[in-house]
Amino acid sequence: MASSSSPTLLLLLLAPLLLAMARPCTGADPISTVCSKNGTSAQTQASIDQVLSSLVPRASAAYYATATAGRSPSTIYGLAQCRGDVTRQDCALCIAAAAREVASSCRGSADGRIFYDYCLLRYSDANFIGLPDTGYTLILLNTQNATGVDLAAFDRAQAKLMSRVAAEAGQGASKGLARDTARLGGGGAAAKTTIYGLGWCTLDITAADCGLCVAQAVAELPNYCRYRRGCRVMYSSCIARYETYPFFFPLDGGAEPADLAGHLEKIVINQ
Ligand SMILES: *[C@@H]1O[C@H](CO)[C@@H](O)[C@H](O)[C@H]1NC(C)=O
Ligand SMILES: *[C@@H]1O[C@H](CO)[C@@H](O)[C@H](O)[C@H]1NC(C)=O
Repeated sequence: MASSSSPTLLLLLLAPLLLAMARPCTGADPISTVCSKNGTSAQTQASIDQVLSSLVPRASAAYYATATAGRSPSTIYGLAQCRGDVTRQDCALCIAAAAREVASSCRGSADGRIFYDYCLLRYSDANFIGLPDTGYTLILLNTQNATGVDLAAFDRAQAKLMSRVAAEAGQGASKGLARDTARLGGGGAAAKTTIYGLGWCTLDITAADCGLCVAQAVAELPNYCRYRRGCRVMYSSCIARYETYPFFFPLDGGAEPADLAGHLEKIVINQ
């Protein structure tokens, strides 16, 4: 991870992402993989391997686990977590894929992070556990505008919904996962749009920090996602996301997730 004092680097990756929305973790590519601090010692690499093999079974069983291995200066800290609304099977598949992918993609790096729709996994030689981290930002936006609605009204409804999601994420009862919806009238009774909002935090941070983290992510939405039919802002400690189709469980009315292939743009801000 670059230090927070280095200048903001903005990378626009316009290549369309082929994200299989229905089962993103069963073999699909991760949303993002970030490796830094290249050049690990053999001892550190051994600590990384130990942390990953300790995280996989425990995070698969409990949806969340942290691990530490090795002695200073080869200590490695790790965290793995599934989104609380996915099935046990999808959780286990996602965590296994995450550990496998981060081990090969970030081999030699003392800091590795991997993000999927259903889970995330992170390890580092710095003890990040319990510290809210909004240094690395990934923005994934739908390049299409909302349709069938007044765009200004859509953004107002989205902003209201997402500020509610941030507030809910800050409540201890939400256990780091806030889900909410907003219905938007499109004129006729049939023309209704539903906006689905989600806030999600790693469970090592407090509920209060979770609320602040999601609120910070939500505050980025107007900067990148005006009128967009879907958008997510992802930090290492939390995520804020909205879509106009159901993407969290239980799925609304058995609806099929939308096919976003070719409609996503990825923006990375590393500060
Ligand atoms: C790490 O450094 C080595 C040697 O400088 C280089 O060959 C390798 O590609 C680097 N790996 C990454 C992930 O940057
Ligand atoms: C989205 O809507 C805005 C406002 O009407 C417009 O300026 C912009 O070109 C639209 N973008 C797309 C991708 O349709």
